Amino acid sequence: MDLHAAQDALKARAPFIPEIAVVLGSGLGALADCVEAQQGLSIPFTELPGFPAQTVEGHAGRLVFCELEGRRVLLQAGRFHYYEGHSLDLVTAPMRLYGRLGIPAVLHTNAAGALHPGFRVGELMVLRDHINFMGEHPLRGPNVPPGPRFPDMTEAYDPGLRAKLHQAAQAVGQRLQEGVYLAVSGPSYETPAEIRAFRAMGADAVGMSTVPEVLVARHEGMKVAAVSCLCNMGAGILPQPLAHQEVLEAGKAASAAFANLVRAFLRQ
Ligand code: HPA
Repeated sequence: MDLHAAQDALKARAPFIPEIAVVLGSGLGALADCVEAQQGLSIPFTELPGFPAQTVEGHAGRLVFCELEGRRVLLQAGRFHYYEGHSLDLVTAPMRLYGRLGIPAVLHTNAAGALHPGFRVGELMVLRDHINFMGEHPLRGPNVPPGPRFPDMTEAYDPGLRAKLHQAAQAVGQRLQEGVYLAVSGPSYETPAEIRAFRAMGADAVGMSTVPEVLVARHEGMKVAAVSCLCNMGAGILPQPLAHQEVLEAGKAASAAFANLVRAFLRQ
């Protein structure tokens, strides 16, 4: 995917260089509709050259440049999912754009299933680390300079930003878990045997996004933090099947807590 035209278009329209990009995951997009965001500048992905007109979900999402809690931020509402059939090149293209625009940090958010027996539905989890189980790597192929051919992932999730998220949670009196996120391609939910296997591998949560974007954001040299909304317990943990509707509703129920956490984080 040639991103030069999109890079130029974004540079030309960006009213400022944001301090951080916040990627709002499934059901967590309410922040992009807040008053501050409505006063900001909204750019649909469809207006950036090279991005598809529509995703399978019917909307490609948008970027909102705005001021939140005294900070200049870029909110990304909606993302391109691998399970929709998009290439990892497209899935991670926003990270290349942010890196080239000079944004120094990204906060990712997503919906995930909880595997850790101590976690409860509706809680939020800071990612300490990840396991890439998608079966593909976004950096495969010719290296994109100036990033290194073999980027280090020892501290993929910035310890300083993680500490700030915990301070933010404490400041607003919210419970915030921490753990390892395992990414699958989806779109099916896992089998109970897969969930047991992932648990044995050291995963605390499972989801269908974020990891490709984190790998590319790190390759771009950006600091990364990520938070999962634990929308359901992993398949087979509870004696009932998973329903996408219930996952969505749990996300919606947690979205206020989530917006609170992001705002408190920006104030830190
Ligand atoms: N598995 C994978 N992705 C998910 C889940 C899950 O249980 N819940 C929300 N996204």
